Amino acid sequence: MERRRFGSSAEVPIIGQGTWNLEIADRASAIATLRRGLDLGMTHIDTAEMYGDGAVERIVGEAIADRRDQVFLVSKVVPENASRRGTIEACERSLARLRTDRLDCYLLHWRGSYPLADTIAAFEELQRDGKILSWGVSNFDARDLEEARRLAGKRGPVCNQVLYHLKERAIEHEVLRWCERHGSAVVAYSPFGHDRFPGPETRGGRVLVEVAAAHHATARQVALRFLVRHPSLFAIPKASHPDRAAENAAAGDLRLTDEETARIEAAFPLGRKTRELPTL
Ligand SMILES: NC(=O)c1ccc[n+]([C@@H]2O[C@H](COP(=O)([O-])OP(=O)(O)OC[C@H]3O[C@@H](n4cnc5c(N)ncnc54)[C@H](OP(=O)(O)O)[C@@H]3O)[C@@H](O)[C@H]2O)c1
Repeated sequence: MERRRFGSSAEVPIIGQGTWNLEIADRASAIATLRRGLDLGMTHIDTAEMYGDGAVERIVGEAIADRRDQVFLVSKVVPENASRRGTIEACERSLARLRTDRLDCYLLHWRGSYPLADTIAAFEELQRDGKILSWGVSNFDARDLEEARRLAGKRGPVCNQVLYHLKERAIEHEVLRWCERHGSAVVAYSPFGHDRFPGPETRGGRVLVEVAAAHHATARQVALRFLVRHPSLFAIPKASHPDRAAENAAAGDLRLTDEETARIEAAFPLGRKTRELPTL
């Protein structure tokens, strides 16, 4: 599994593991999936207090209990809790559910009504206390990122977690460039389009199948590898079955040629710039 520098933070695998809706899956299978993913190098685990109202953090806590040190653990505060005091309390609740004393990265899930300066001040306090090792943001457009940088200077954010998949490449207009310029990682959430992965009957889907065949790989592996083709990019697919985790992890070892990348770019065009950054 290839690893890269995650903003100014640690080296992190290019393919990690999402956990949204994991509480709906069979619990044993969910835990086995996360552990299989860890075995195969997908040590970046993304969760959030919002997922299953804390139930997913408990599942993750159980899955990583005897191997915390192997994991790059990320959780998120919901905007409703992101006041100066509320952020600290939300983080402490997450740490308890995750059965750990620290997060590797803590994110603001999306922008809300509390001043960003208050949330960042709370992140910095958590960092001073060793409860988080770094902080980042999610669903931020370039203007939001600029504001975060104005408030925090060079200290943050280490990443921006955003919607990015083959049929939704809007971050390439501005956000990706901003993050590259300022050394922030870009984490592609819903890299399979959540439940809209292009089927083999579609034009784009056929291109994926053809490229995959040349590598004895699968269309999903090709898609994941395409999404992490720039040095600031990471992806966090979510799976509920260990064999799917294994399939996704193998994308970390795939290499696409420039010609294959160009074919995929053409099959899933960037589209026009809109004012709003899309969210799922
Ligand atoms: N920051 C944010 O606002 C935000 C928003 C959305 C998501 N996220 C994060 O990003 C993660 C990923 O996004 P997502 O969960 O929306 O969707 P996704 O990863 O794009 O797709 C997940 C779907 O793909 C299926 N799948 C996974 N691997 C597969 C494989 N190898 N073969 C066939 N099907 C496969 C899963 O099925 P099974 O589960 O049944 O295996 C699930 O239905 C989330 O879990 C969450 O951690 C963050």
